[in-house]
Order: sequence, then structure tokens, then C-alpha cells
Amino acid sequence: MKITFLGHATVLVEMNSKKILFDPFITGNSLSQHIDISHLAVDYVFVTHGHEDHVLDVEAVMKNNPDALLVSNFEIVSWFGKKNISGHAMNHGGKYEFDFGTAKYVNAVHSSILPDGTYGGNPGGFVLYDDSKSLYVAGDTALTKDMELIPLLCPKLDVALLPVGDNFTMGYEDALIASDLIRCDTIIGYHFDTFPPIEIDKPKAVKYFKDKGKELVLLNVGESLSI
Ligand code: NI
Ligand code: MN
Repeated sequence: MKITFLGHATVLVEMNSKKILFDPFITGNSLSQHIDISHLAVDYVFVTHGHEDHVLDVEAVMKNNPDALLVSNFEIVSWFGKKNISGHAMNHGGKYEFDFGTAKYVNAVHSSILPDGTYGGNPGGFVLYDDSKSLYVAGDTALTKDMELIPLLCPKLDVALLPVGDNFTMGYEDALIASDLIRCDTIIGYHFDTFPPIEIDKPKAVKYFKDKGKELVLLNVGESLSI
């Protein structure tokens, strides 16, 4: 499994020869301007919730990849369905076997509204897993005790993407507690530095984890981690 950070909360996961893009927000991110979304070849676009900093480039990417499938909650899949984008709707607690592995839609504590004001359903996160690897993509969320359920319901996580930018989501201090709840010691931090309210002191955040025997990986835009 290969995880490539494309800035903010946008990540490209390669799993069993399929490319799964999460929360595409590239053209609106000043830190990701060197990425040309017309070159993004994907099989799936997963969306955690309806906020613009997670859905801005969904339509363009899906139109460039006509065989790709959008996966999100019912409300978001329905909204994009009106734009002739084909999707697979899920809801909290549900899992489904795709051709790359299983995806489980899990709880997030946040809000969700689509760019035109349409209700976006409840926000969520996803756990993707197969027989050998397991990845949690938390989406925008506060620290929540619901995270304790993930290791009870899914295979042991190899890595988790958690927001660390604070203000709109949990910060890195809460993400360290989250890593205990989900029983995962390797965390990729995301949702930081894009806007002034979520700028973080990166060396301080990394040291905060290291002092507790855990690893916080803060990838540069375009950088990958293979597990
Ligand atoms: Ni959000
Ligand atoms: Mn966000």
C-alpha cells in the first residue's frame, strides 16, 4: 500500500493496483499549485464530508476519470449524482467489499454542508483494509471515544491519517490520544498549514509524538509513504 500526500486532506492511496483519491482539494490550495489535476488517474474518489476544502475538485477529477466511482455518504453521493457523477453510497457503521479491499465508514465528530448549502449528511471517516494492510483515514474530526471501536471492528491498523491542524479539527495533542484509542503508533498528520488558523509548529508536533514513543509523519506535498 502506498499513500501519497497531495496537500491539506487530499491523499492518494494505491492498494491492490487500484488508485483511491480522498477529498480532492488541490486547485484551491496554494501549497498544491504544482499538481496538475488533469494528470490524476484514479479508480475511486472517496469523500469524508461535504465541506469545500474536501470536495472542490471532485467534479473535475471524476469527469477526467469517467470510469471512476465516487464513494461517500448517501447525501453527498446523491448531490453529485445530479451532476451525472456515478457513486456508491454508504452510511455510518457500514462496510462494503470493493475490488481493492474492504471499506468501512466510521464516525467523525464535525459538521458537513455542501458548497451550495445543501445538507451533506453526517461527516465520517473510512477504514480501508485487506488481508495484509489496514489504513484509517479519519477525515475532519474531533477526538472522540468512538475511535475506540475501530480496533474492535477492523484489522489492526498499520497507519492512520489524522487531522493535526487544530481549530477546525483536533490538533496534534488530541491526535496523540487518538492514536492510543485506535491502537496505532504510526500516524500521518494532515489538515495542517493550508490556512493561517491551522498552521502548526511541525518539529514540535513530531517531537510531541516521539517523546511518547510514537511516530508522527508529516509528508511534504507530493511525498509518499509505503507500508
Ligand atoms: Ni470540514
Ligand atoms: Mn476540512
